[in-house]
Amino acid sequence: MTTVFEDLAVWRDARQAQVRAGLTLGFVPTMGALHEGHHSLVRRSRQENDLTLVSIFVNPAQFDDPKDLARYPRTLDDDLAALQAGHTDFLLLPRADDLYLDGYRYRVTEVEGSRDLEGAHRPGHFDGVLTVVLKLLQLARADRAYFGEKDWQQLSLVRGMTNAFFLPTAIVGCPTIRESDGLALSSRNRHLSPGDRSRAPLFHQALVNAATAADAEHALRAAGFDVDYIEDRPGRRVGAIRLGGIRLIDNVALEG
Ligand code: PAF
Repeated sequence: MTTVFEDLAVWRDARQAQVRAGLTLGFVPTMGALHEGHHSLVRRSRQENDLTLVSIFVNPAQFDDPKDLARYPRTLDDDLAALQAGHTDFLLLPRADDLYLDGYRYRVTEVEGSRDLEGAHRPGHFDGVLTVVLKLLQLARADRAYFGEKDWQQLSLVRGMTNAFFLPTAIVGCPTIRESDGLALSSRNRHLSPGDRSRAPLFHQALVNAATAADAEHALRAAGFDVDYIEDRPGRRVGAIRLGGIRLIDNVALEG
């Protein structure tokens, strides 16, 4: 049975009682439209903690494009059913007015890595991500919080913020979950047309197989993809493309 909390004060009281009882908590923050990637985070949390909390909040502050926010999938009934089936203990559904009591006057800005890659293409995106993650971590009071490696830059910035502000929650990065053809799972995949869906795995193939980031970009452009960036960073090749107006991101480990 998944207990749903919409009222932040009620959740905080519940968490206080859990802490008093010595119960550890794992936290999986999400924007809903849950897929196997999210469920793998929930399973990991259930293995490592007494209790698991999932949050669903489509965070307006991290969308630079209002059209992207408007069409972000919202599938609460299905999400709740899947969380119940996966034995998730708690679901937090904050209201925007409660989470942003300050009207987003206070925000977290990282001034180096957040300006690169996704940050260069989506102005303000990481201010929105880091701010909401800080709020959610403070509310959750979790022992561990679980993030997918698919959002590699997000994971690294959340880790950095957690260290910078001495937050007590351990950040756990978890492997990207892929379809059998290599496409990384994403809530946005459901918006791909059948034709674009069948071409989409080329993105992952190019990241893995090309000798250089420039070669991967060239191969993808030659195949008709709109490429925002393909770049090599220490240990990682990261990329973002657009297919039929749907933006996909991915990354792979670099050998050596
Ligand atoms: O990765 C996501 O789904 C979001 O960026 C997060 C971490 C839930 C913050 O809104």
